[in-house]
Amino acid sequence: MIKVFGAAVLTAGVLSVGVLASGLWAVGPLAAEENNESKHAVEYRQAVMAAIGGHTGSIARIARQQVPYDHILPHAEAIATTAPLVDDIWPDHSKPTDYERTDALESIWDERDEFQARIDRFKEAADDFAVAAGSGDMAEIMPAFQQLGESCSACHDDYRAE
Ligand code: HEC
Repeated sequence: MIKVFGAAVLTAGVLSVGVLASGLWAVGPLAAEENNESKHAVEYRQAVMAAIGGHTGSIARIARQQVPYDHILPHAEAIATTAPLVDDIWPDHSKPTDYERTDALESIWDERDEFQARIDRFKEAADDFAVAAGSGDMAEIMPAFQQLGESCSACHDDYRAE
């Protein structure tokens, strides 16, 4: 009985070593292929946006009272802390012509001043929202959240593909 058990363990061990080995073998060429500056810049940008979107979506669920959490302030602070990163996530090598799996429109790089104005509006709305969230007063929080949401749309409407 013990011997059978031992053999089963050994077999499982050999199997997992085999899977691990083939997994490692596959990582080599994949890692080389992914070593691409444009792809990484786009994916980083999308990850930053997804983080901001995650906090915004969490706040919306709390504000609609779908969940009972008293978490608005930390989400608001996370957005305000992350907002200045949005200045930096549009390097020249991250255009749709550099890496096609992006929803960022080429016009971002043709209208840098106008685009920066949308970022500035968002950063301001994020700061105002963090202040409102700190008040704990829903009568202040809700209009500030609305302003924040409009600052997202003001950019997405013109600079993000549908
Ligand atoms: C200054 C412009 C701008 C502002 C402000 C902005 N976004 Fe974005 N956002 C974009 C662009 C452009 C993309 C497409 C990025 C890409 O695909 O490379 C994007 C993508 C996204 C995505 C998809 C990310 C993914 O997984 O691909 C989410 C979610 C998002 N934004 C949420 C928000 C929210 C929420 C706000 C406001 C709180 C906001 N954004 C403010 C320009 C902006």
